[in-house]
Amino acid sequence: MVTCYDASFARIIAHAELDCVLVGDSLGMVVQGRESTLPVTLDEIIYHTNMVRRGAKDIPIISDLPFMSYHSSVGDAISSAGRIMKETSADAVKLEGASDFNLSVIHRLREIGIPVMGHLGLTPQSFHVLGGYKVQGKSKEDQEKLIRDALNLEAAGAFSVVLEMVPANVAKEITTQLQIPTIGIGAGKYVDGQVLVLYDLLGMNPEFTPKFLKKYMNLYQTILESMKQYKRDVETETFPNEENSF
Ligand code: KIV
Repeated sequence: MVTCYDASFARIIAHAELDCVLVGDSLGMVVQGRESTLPVTLDEIIYHTNMVRRGAKDIPIISDLPFMSYHSSVGDAISSAGRIMKETSADAVKLEGASDFNLSVIHRLREIGIPVMGHLGLTPQSFHVLGGYKVQGKSKEDQEKLIRDALNLEAAGAFSVVLEMVPANVAKEITTQLQIPTIGIGAGKYVDGQVLVLYDLLGMNPEFTPKFLKKYMNLYQTILESMKQYKRDVETETFPNEENSF
């Protein structure tokens, strides 16, 4: 699984036969250039989900419920998830955390027929209270809570859980205890699947080098060199040439 935000990348991801894509609220940081995911709106998630679907007709799409779109009441959560399902062709939604309130939201959405993916560990929408973007579940107490939360998400009806930035042994224990699939990001290899932020795995930001990330290419450098070459070609009148002219 990988995140995706537009039709061009969605087409490539579908051709590569990945299992599914996440229209993550990480788009706030990697596409919009914001400091966090908090400003991302429901309208923006809907807009990007529709672009992704145009590029990939058949791939399962999970769309993030953005910050404050599911927090104030179960009714609000239902109408936010309902908008995603009615106004896009997403297949499921994702929300962060396993508070009692979130569990009741998941239970209700499941009853209505909206599949929900959970998200535990580093939940970026709560980075203020988590003290930043760091590994979660280091203490015994926190590890037990993570396991409890994962079991509660499953019992509430989540079809899968993302585990972000948790120790590999904790992710392994959760994966063993759950029937539903775990999807890891910075959670080691003993999970059922992996997810990465598309722009991160393509190497779009040379300054972003977390331990969990593998960059499969240096797209920043490739694009930079292409831009410089294009500029040189235009300035030296090498482009356009006869071949590029009518
Ligand atoms: O928003 C996102 O991209 C995510 C992934 C990091 C799991 O939630």
